[in-house]
Amino acid sequence: GPILLLGSPGAGKGTQAKELMKLWGIPQISTGDLLRSTAASGTDLGHQVKEIMEKGQLVTDELVNQMVAVRLTLPDCARGFILDGFPRTLAQADWLDAHLAKQTGAAGLPVVAVRIQVDYTQLLRRIAGRRNCPVCGTIYNIYLNPPKVPGICDLEGASLQQRSDDTEECFAGRMETYEKLTAPVIEHYRGQGRFFEVNGDQPVAEVAASIVSSVERLR
Ligand code: AP5
Ligand code: ZN
Repeated sequence: GPILLLGSPGAGKGTQAKELMKLWGIPQISTGDLLRSTAASGTDLGHQVKEIMEKGQLVTDELVNQMVAVRLTLPDCARGFILDGFPRTLAQADWLDAHLAKQTGAAGLPVVAVRIQVDYTQLLRRIAGRRNCPVCGTIYNIYLNPPKVPGICDLEGASLQQRSDDTEECFAGRMETYEKLTAPVIEHYRGQGRFFEVNGDQPVAEVAASIVSSVERLR
């Protein structure tokens, strides 16, 4: 069924979504990645989205809900999926709960929500050191999880890139937005019971193992 990964910017949602995707064979749906491709599209909407993302603010609930609704119609979601970066407001959470209640099969099962917890000083290093592969999407960190050759993806040799919102200034804005609008989403899912927290400040494989064992306990 559906898995939601919740947690502050840099907590490791994207990294864990990719681990779980490999383990379970269900897709990662990252609203951040979907919006970054919209931003890169060169359209009017793309320019608007880019401006909002670079301020560390959120795009409208209507826009992301619509993007997620379209993505969920693709056949690879039928056995379940991992949502990364969504829902991020209480309105998005209410929309998702109602939308999934109408689905049949595995996609309509109750969600399991996982909060990945990492403290603030560690988050700063994670954001400052993050580098992404534009070809395969692998996420590296120059301090914590470096590629074998600096600046180059291990898999196909592409040059790694830094996200334009990974500046110290923008990170502060993203944290502020997170505390104000997204922290209440955690309480929303905590209240529904199919919720657990994992310590994100462990090696990637250990965080993944904690998530897997907690999800299996709930099944
Ligand atoms: P989004 O792309 O979702 O950004 P975010 O929430 O700020 O999260 P990040 O991608 O920064 O962090 P992450 O938790 O995925 O960490 P990662 O695995 O990369 O959103 C970007 C923007 O899009 C938003 O600001 C907003 O404007 C917009 N947006 C997106 N969704 C939206 C929505 N639903 N509604 C409205 N607007 C929306 O890891 C970080 C670093 O740490 C990496 O370098 C990684 O290598 C390293 N790392 C990870 N795990 C470990 C570990 N266990 N040990 C050591 N290092 C680790
Ligand atoms: Zn790559």
